[in-house]
Amino acid sequence: MLYRGSFVHCPQLGQVDILNDHLLAVNEAGFIKHFEPSDSINSRRYLDTHLASQELIALEPGNFLLPTFCDLHLHAPQFLYQGNGLHLPLMKWLDEYAFKAEEELDSNPALAKKVYSGLANRLIEHGTGAVMLFGTIREETNLILAEVFLNAGLRGFIGKLSMDISTRPTYVENSAEESLVAIASFIGKLKAMTSQLPVHRRLVEPVVTPRFVPTCSNELLHGLGKYAREQCLRIQSHLAEAHDQVDWVRRERGAEDVEVFEKNNLLTPRTVQAHCTFLDSPSLCKIHDQQTTIAHCPLSNAYFSAEPFRLREALNIGVSVGLGTDVAGGYSIDIMNAMRQAVVVSRMREGARTMGNISSRVSLAIDWKEALYLATRGGAIGLGLPDGSGMFQVGAPFDAQHIELFKIEPARGIGSFDVFELELDGHGLSEDMVEKWWCLGDSRNRLATWVQGVKLAAIPVQE
Ligand code: GUN
Ligand code: FE
Repeated sequence: MLYRGSFVHCPQLGQVDILNDHLLAVNEAGFIKHFEPSDSINSRRYLDTHLASQELIALEPGNFLLPTFCDLHLHAPQFLYQGNGLHLPLMKWLDEYAFKAEEELDSNPALAKKVYSGLANRLIEHGTGAVMLFGTIREETNLILAEVFLNAGLRGFIGKLSMDISTRPTYVENSAEESLVAIASFIGKLKAMTSQLPVHRRLVEPVVTPRFVPTCSNELLHGLGKYAREQCLRIQSHLAEAHDQVDWVRRERGAEDVEVFEKNNLLTPRTVQAHCTFLDSPSLCKIHDQQTTIAHCPLSNAYFSAEPFRLREALNIGVSVGLGTDVAGGYSIDIMNAMRQAVVVSRMREGARTMGNISSRVSLAIDWKEALYLATRGGAIGLGLPDGSGMFQVGAPFDAQHIELFKIEPARGIGSFDVFELELDGHGLSEDMVEKWWCLGDSRNRLATWVQGVKLAAIPVQE
């Protein structure tokens, strides 16, 4: 498959490259095998040799391809009640909403399939190609989630929840031992599910998922850390998210979250920790030293954390950071919203700092270019996706979204904003246009989403 037109990507934090009139070729396995300006000698040769045998998609002027978004933190079963219950503090919300909804899916496979199919369709529509997911306790429900993601063609890191402590007596594993047997069984079954597929189609992978410290005994955390290390598995959890949760850990375990995770080998280069809102500089340095990634979830932080994440400080010391929607602690599945919220929150932090006359040369605010990096390349690195993911380069998988800016058809409601002053000239797409899309665009501007070279289509949502 050949694509010709404008490409936009962020190879580094703060850098947006707009590559007009380029030619990109994707091989059968979904990897980029050519990417150069269309008028280069190599591109002309490439076209001469392959045009007869391969389909060429020529993007309309003003349209562009962008790497798909990465969502580093999403609770799949909570999609059931997205947008409800956010008046409660975290620990109460978990008890009254989250555990209940998760238990409901665990007892109703048909409902699970319906909710997970709907979730996959919404992700495709919003340009998200790779997601790290929290599932539920029960194996079967998590295998349904994996199957739905495989069928949809999305990259999914599937986390069967490990929790041997709960406020809900009917939604808990009976012991650390039982929980450790269950995670090994789930991982075996998930691997068996993909083992017949070619390596590049194995788009789902298991993640060891201690829910968070308050739902895991020390014995369970220790066992999970050991198992993940032995099997070289990815890990995800919640770290230093909310006052009531942090207080609980101090009271019951006599330690900080971060110390508990570290002691149990759960901070690794293959770990994604959500929130990390209350981490001070030494703790952020610890995260950096362990090469652990942080999933920054600005919307749910605003509800549950009461304090913003120290994003600029984390970036300055080189911590790996990506964005998360935290559905349903966050009510929006759209990473575009997470990008905008990350910028808004950081600007408010900067505003508060300068009002207090605290001087520092470095602003705490991030800008749209930095947010776009976090949503694409930064997230891909955090998830450990194949080399070059989150940008366009030879050898990387072709994970892309097709964005349309100009072909607005008001009668059909297509096109989410008006472009009055920006006009395409002979120079192609400009930074102003991309910025405008970043601020005002939505899923109506998205014409297609590809993962590993395959164009994704909505899957049936069954009862
Ligand atoms: N901490 C433990 N479980 C959860 C959850 O489901 N959502 C959020 N936001 N935080 C948690
Ligand atoms: Fe969460």
